[in-house]
Amino acid sequence: MKTLLVGYKVQDLFEVDRRGERRPASWLEGDITCHTLDIYHCHAIENSSCGVKAVCLPHLPKGDWDLVKFKTGPKLMSGELSLDLLQEIHLLHPKRFELEFDGRERDRNDLLSKIKDDPDRVRDFSAVWPASVPGGQKLMLTSFPGCFCHRRVDDGGLALAEVVARELSAAKTFNASALQPFNILDMGCGCGLVGFLVAASQKLPVRLVMVDSHTRAVEAAKLNAEKLGIPAEVLLSDNGTPAQMDGTFDVFVGNPPYYSDYRIADIFLETAQRALKPGGVCYTVCKNADGLEPVQRRYFPDVEIIRRRGYAVLKSVKN
Ligand SMILES: C[S@@+](CC[C@H](N)C(=O)[O-])C[C@H]1O[C@@H](n2cnc3c(N)ncnc32)[C@H](O)[C@@H]1O
Repeated sequence: MKTLLVGYKVQDLFEVDRRGERRPASWLEGDITCHTLDIYHCHAIENSSCGVKAVCLPHLPKGDWDLVKFKTGPKLMSGELSLDLLQEIHLLHPKRFELEFDGRERDRNDLLSKIKDDPDRVRDFSAVWPASVPGGQKLMLTSFPGCFCHRRVDDGGLALAEVVARELSAAKTFNASALQPFNILDMGCGCGLVGFLVAASQKLPVRLVMVDSHTRAVEAAKLNAEKLGIPAEVLLSDNGTPAQMDGTFDVFVGNPPYYSDYRIADIFLETAQRALKPGGVCYTVCKNADGLEPVQRRYFPDVEIIRRRGYAVLKSVKN
């Protein structure tokens, strides 16, 4: 029996027995593959020894699936991502389908009815939207459900792009003649908002490297690089850039997620410290600098705070 799990995280694959011991869930039987959208969740399953194969792909893997189990709900993912994945499951034609819905019965039925009522309709959930920095060209960015930000500009990301584009253009930070080309690392790039806006605002040639742990962000950033004609190396990683890129960047930009008590911001800043050249500049952004500033100071002793759009951009120079 070949089973595909969709929307499951490592903790869903374990249960605690009567003696309080954690062991693989009793319902895990046969040849099971778990689809993940984030490489962090994929690694967590691979390292858990629960006997489930994990894949990290922007779309569900094709196959002759006997059973597809889908775990979703309003607290687990956006309604649009739920519907997008449900449509992909429907198009796989599995022999059997089970929905584990964490939420109200009415919302569960509502989700299912969107497919049942019109089974032949295939919806396109991608979105194309504009973004620009002052004095820069308007870029049309494509995003997908699950990828940050879908359908709209994130104000924090925009604030970061505006500050970095302005500083680089004014060559306040660099001696422009020394930058041929200059190297920008956009960590947690999402669909590429910050990196593309900064790169497009510069007259000098730019080498742009983008990293994200979410496979749909990587898919969107690659597509945007192609559509915008801005060359970029886009990497899927939850662990920064490879060692051979250490010490090669002039600028680091990062708009990290803050849901994890700064654990992910710490990974971003550790990468920035490693990836930047001496004299290279690290820019991060957050709503309120109080929490992020001490984390940034662990890696860079001096932090300058630049306010923009109600956000704080934290700037540090590597010694
Ligand atoms: C707040 S979003 C910012 C997206 C984009 N830079 C912007 O400003 O619109 C944070 C991004 O970090 C990514 N992310 C989370 N953990 C990560 C990690 N360990 N390594 C790389 N990217 C990560 C998320 O997938 C998400 O795309």
